[in-house]
Amino acid sequence: MENDQDGRELAARFDLKNLPPDFYEDPFRHYRALREHAPVKRLPDGSVLATRYVDVAAVYRDAKIFSSDKKSEFGPKFGADSLIYQHHTTSLVFSDPPFHSRVRRIIVGALVPRAITDLVPGIEALVTRLLDEMEEKRDVDLVESFALALPVEIIGNLFGIPPAERSPLRGWTSAILSALEPALTAEQLKRANAAVSEFLEYLKVLIADRRATPGDPERDVLTRLIQGSTDGEKFTEVELLQNCIFIVNAGHETTTSLLGSALVLLQEWPEERQRLQANPALIKTAIDEFLRMESPVQLGNRVATIDTAVGGVNITAGTIVHVGIAAANRDPEQFAAPEKMDIARSPNRHFAFAGGIHQCAGNHLAKLQAEIALSRFLARFPGYELSAKPTRGGRARFRGYVKAPARVR
Ligand code: HEM
Repeated sequence: MENDQDGRELAARFDLKNLPPDFYEDPFRHYRALREHAPVKRLPDGSVLATRYVDVAAVYRDAKIFSSDKKSEFGPKFGADSLIYQHHTTSLVFSDPPFHSRVRRIIVGALVPRAITDLVPGIEALVTRLLDEMEEKRDVDLVESFALALPVEIIGNLFGIPPAERSPLRGWTSAILSALEPALTAEQLKRANAAVSEFLEYLKVLIADRRATPGDPERDVLTRLIQGSTDGEKFTEVELLQNCIFIVNAGHETTTSLLGSALVLLQEWPEERQRLQANPALIKTAIDEFLRMESPVQLGNRVATIDTAVGGVNITAGTIVHVGIAAANRDPEQFAAPEKMDIARSPNRHFAFAGGIHQCAGNHLAKLQAEIALSRFLARFPGYELSAKPTRGGRARFRGYVKAPARVR
């Protein structure tokens, strides 16, 4: 824990584009210092970072003043004629109404409860298969064998992507999302553009096949999205393709992080682990607590559309506002003993799925997967133990593990 002076200095030095190496291991001490000493921190590039819960809530609440449209930010960053620019600026997440409302309606309509419920037997079978494989090996990487393997398959099932064609998805997603890091190298940019290009080529074929042989629109998400593109011109072809890429990306990397972080957190908090193993019915509140403690998306951002203020700090129109999801989720003004994991915490109104009109459209699916996966994992391997220090992904915006070696039993 920082003393007051150290905290003040940490907050004064903080720069999202120039993070110290220790930040990736423990961003929370930096966020705490910011919350206490510079809750709306002006960064050297003129943007601001809000870290208090009330300020984050206020930004999410007002989508008119705090826009999600990233064209003016991504133009210079990516080049306005690049594919990665087209991808991110056509995704619903980086757009405002009325475009956002139109795309969101189609997507929410495609993620109908029946399509989600239909996935349950597939999730259960997949979890059982992964657990069987791990039981045979005993020494496993929890990320590779479980946290990563599951969401890729689920999102593959959701879109009806044939199992043999799923292997490139992970690399594409990672390259496309890495382009959103606060600082970007030329190599990352090149990889991101190549990934969008390959992903588009792949999807064009998948969509042409599905157009030729449609699935049941009540159950098949891609068929439903395609219908959104032909029914009254709601979706253009580019909008359809780029938003399919967005859903595939949004749907798996974050869920992987949730599963990996949950298994590591339970190892770090043995009493909470015992409590959950003794009361499996606590799984739902436990999942919200994992999401609060280790939010897979740590930072969001918005752009001020007018001269306004955040937490009493005046900002001019055009200012980028970084939204401190992870920081707000540990704000003592909102959460009692915020640094402590409490798997029965209630209420737990965390911002892991953001808030307002852009709140995660896949949160039910993410929670459903986590519930089935983690409950079954704990029932099968009550004595699992990490066998080496897990490795972090090393990114500021997205937090999770890339490796978590463990012995399962
Ligand atoms: C633990 C897992 C997940 C987390 C933590 C997560 C987090 C988020 C966050 C923070 C946002 C808002 C971004 C912003 O406005 O700045 C978001 C949006 C979104 N997510 Fe998720 N997500 C998860 C899983 C999923 C899944 C499984 C799907 C779909 C299959 C999905 C689909 C979406 C969509 C479509 C949006 C855009 C909503 C909009 O802009 O209106 N997410 N997610």
